[in-house]
Amino acid sequence: MCGIIGYVGTRDVVPVLIGGLKKLEYRGYDSAGIAVVNGNGVEVVRAEGKLSNLEAKLDDRKLHGSFGMGHTRWATHGKPNENNAHPHRDCTGQVVVIHNGIIENFLPLKQRLQKAGHEFKTETDTEVVAHLIEERIKGGTKFVDAVRQTLKELEGHFALVMIDGSEPGTIVAAKQGPPLVVGLGENENIIASDVAPLLAYTRNIIYLEDGEYAIADQQNVRVFDKNDNDVTRPPKKILWDAVMAEKEGYRHYMLKEIHEQPRAVRDTFNGRMFEESAQIYFNDLQLTADDWAKIKKVQVIACGTSWHAGLVGKFLLEDAARIPIEVDYGSEYRYRNPIIDGSTLVIGVTQSGETADTIAGMQEAKRQGAKLITICNVIGAAATRMSDGVIYTNAGPEIGVASTKAFTTQLTAFYLLSLYIRELRGEDVSVRKQGMHEMRMIPHRIEHILKHQEQHIERLAHKYANSTDFLFLGRGVHYPIALEGALKLKEISYIHAEGYPAGEMKHGPIALIDENLPVVAIATKTPVYDKVVSNLQEVKARDGKLIVICDEGDEEIAKLADDVIEIPHTIEPLQPILSVVPTQLLAYYIALRLGKDVDQPRNLAKSVTVE
Ligand code: G6P
Repeated sequence: MCGIIGYVGTRDVVPVLIGGLKKLEYRGYDSAGIAVVNGNGVEVVRAEGKLSNLEAKLDDRKLHGSFGMGHTRWATHGKPNENNAHPHRDCTGQVVVIHNGIIENFLPLKQRLQKAGHEFKTETDTEVVAHLIEERIKGGTKFVDAVRQTLKELEGHFALVMIDGSEPGTIVAAKQGPPLVVGLGENENIIASDVAPLLAYTRNIIYLEDGEYAIADQQNVRVFDKNDNDVTRPPKKILWDAVMAEKEGYRHYMLKEIHEQPRAVRDTFNGRMFEESAQIYFNDLQLTADDWAKIKKVQVIACGTSWHAGLVGKFLLEDAARIPIEVDYGSEYRYRNPIIDGSTLVIGVTQSGETADTIAGMQEAKRQGAKLITICNVIGAAATRMSDGVIYTNAGPEIGVASTKAFTTQLTAFYLLSLYIRELRGEDVSVRKQGMHEMRMIPHRIEHILKHQEQHIERLAHKYANSTDFLFLGRGVHYPIALEGALKLKEISYIHAEGYPAGEMKHGPIALIDENLPVVAIATKTPVYDKVVSNLQEVKARDGKLIVICDEGDEEIAKLADDVIEIPHTIEPLQPILSVVPTQLLAYYIALRLGKDVDQPRNLAKSVTVE
């Protein structure tokens, strides 16, 4: 995810900006840039790729000043090249903007500005902000008021830092979604995406809330709410060290990433889902109705957690497409002589885009003439380079080895793809509209689970942490979640756990059930709910310990289970995005209780690039 830094003070700004961007590198990026205001006006330097490329350019330029901004870009709108790298400028080159997130209504704004004569130089959504501010300044409005008015026009989720070279010394920073923090120094103020770059200068931090914006100069910072009222909020004293700062105060990356899921899911559907017209728009996926009409079957190839996402994808796509969908492990696919031809669509699902087994399977499919698309979290990764189209999950870099936010964003991508296929097949608009509405609610519902169930799950983790085995059960869309819940627990706590379709339990695992076996079951209201309840009664009859993830207020389950974890209701295809969250937290808190290395579990690697 993009990294933002803005500085106004007395120091030489270039080392401050570059040092700050280095602290934000862990967020992942594909290009970087800075803007410095000095006697020469606004000077912008940008470079594709790593910060070292930017530093090399700066060595040649000998840039100085004490006021400026810097940015690392994780591409969403437009290719990851120098031209699309931030900062972006208006037509005069004086208004400069950096941005994290997505401006959802950038297209109509851009069209309006183009009609008014503004010239756009990039493919980004960000550039509209600079031109909108310029438009108002041209009409006689002062920079800060021009920003205020512009913010009211923007829709979406964004963190913005804006300066005007003709009014040097004032930075405006606005937050609507992605994080933005302001560090209060002595004769200097600094704004960034998180506290990591600020710690070298100050420990007094103001966290901006959604809808708020800050106006900073060398001496003062004033914060305003969305109605332009003054906000008085005393700064927080941050005592974190640098490593804690990268984890934003969370004990582990895994926990931070579990908590990032509302944002990650939102960033994956934002800018792609248009409710009014019931249309889905994918930037990097050229799959027309004609292309789709030629597809006779779909094969999904993946490994690990991504394979579980593929299994959920099968439910969603089969229902939308009414053609056969197979899901294969990368390591199995190419050695089983799969039936592939020009009418086969192969979907590689890979968080890293570098998993050797998945890539080998995709290569084989391509060799035999299949059309190839990838669901991937890393821009430009190997899997994306070989594909005809890509759906990027905008989860941001995932550092914890056990995958969490990458998984829920893969499920989001599959759901959007299923809606897109319904659109290509000319299916009923109202179903798609309702689906989009429910999708939009999912981040709030994940937040609800985190807020109301996390402590309860931590207590359950303490209660069950000494068990030697776990069984996870689910049916339909929740069967892959049973597999994923078991995998998460195995990966980080080293407790043996099995995931099983609840209806299959009677054909084997039922023999394991006694008073020592915790059984984690997912029993939300789906068409197979009654069947799952019967399966759970079979567990109870054998004294198994039942922990059930169910809909809020389900009294039937409350009577049957030893412990319940309630989640909000949503439509069936989206339920896995919610039901997996308690299983992630359960695995995390059990591993924590057992004192395991949560982020770096033994024997596992984040990206397995060997066969
Ligand atoms: C490794 C990781 C898993 C991941 C799997 C597939 O095993 O530890 O968390 O699910 O690789 O990775 P990919 O990057 O292809 O999704």
